[in-house]
Amino acid sequence: MQPKGLICAGGEATRLGELTRVANKHLLPVGSWPMIYYPLQLLQLAGIRDVLLVTGKGHAGQMIDLLGDGRLAPRGGGDPILELDLTYKVQTEPGGIAQVVGMAEDFAGGAPLVVVLGDNIFEYAQSPSLHEWAEQPTRARIYVKEVDDPENFGVVVYDDDGQVMDIVEKAGVVDTRYDAPPTSHAVVGLYCFPPDVFNVIATLNPSARGELEITDVNRHYALAGRLDAAEVSGWWEDAGKHWQHLADIGRRIEETGANKRVGA
Ligand code: G1P
Repeated sequence: MQPKGLICAGGEATRLGELTRVANKHLLPVGSWPMIYYPLQLLQLAGIRDVLLVTGKGHAGQMIDLLGDGRLAPRGGGDPILELDLTYKVQTEPGGIAQVVGMAEDFAGGAPLVVVLGDNIFEYAQSPSLHEWAEQPTRARIYVKEVDDPENFGVVVYDDDGQVMDIVEKAGVVDTRYDAPPTSHAVVGLYCFPPDVFNVIATLNPSARGELEITDVNRHYALAGRLDAAEVSGWWEDAGKHWQHLADIGRRIEETGANKRVGA
């Protein structure tokens, strides 16, 4: 069965201060596009057409105004920017990324799922890797990248054979088993899940921050020996971290491009 896509675009985005009092973070400009175009385009390049977009209450109207049914022609004409079939859902209370994934159960209808966080932007669209996973989507796949600030992310711990042994979400804050991150291999906001992901989510308990953690879903697959960790090719950015970042990432995209097709 062809995978479906999910974009997680909820949250208050308080880290962006005054910019997100009214505007949804995912609609802020990054380069010449609103932030949300990039993860949507990544899904399209992975060969996915049906995409569910989950956003917070109060923001769904803006999203629908911008993206409509998912077919988006550039202003002034030219090739379509997006040719997706979009469905929308509203998350009324922030409850974690795993809760958002759980909201996609009916939409998925037994299909495997590729999940992208709405503020994650990649130099390469990771298309060969995503296409390869989609040929036999019986295992979960995460993407990792070495970072300087692992305390802000989930990080992966490998065993001697290079298999994922554990995943630690924001060490010392969310995952109190560790005071500090045991590695600097951050888990990025791109996840591939087999159809049984909803059974896994049904077993989760809220974390120390009161959310259903995507890291707990991934740890479940790791412990079952059903998780692969792929290295992100090219740069990767979480564009929701700080307002200064928005302009920096825009300049970066101007220099190198984003969602490029080759490279991985
Ligand atoms: C989330 C995940 C974290 C991951 C990060 C990537 O964190 O919980 O594991 O490393 O996205 O952007 P959040 O930024 O939602 O707290």
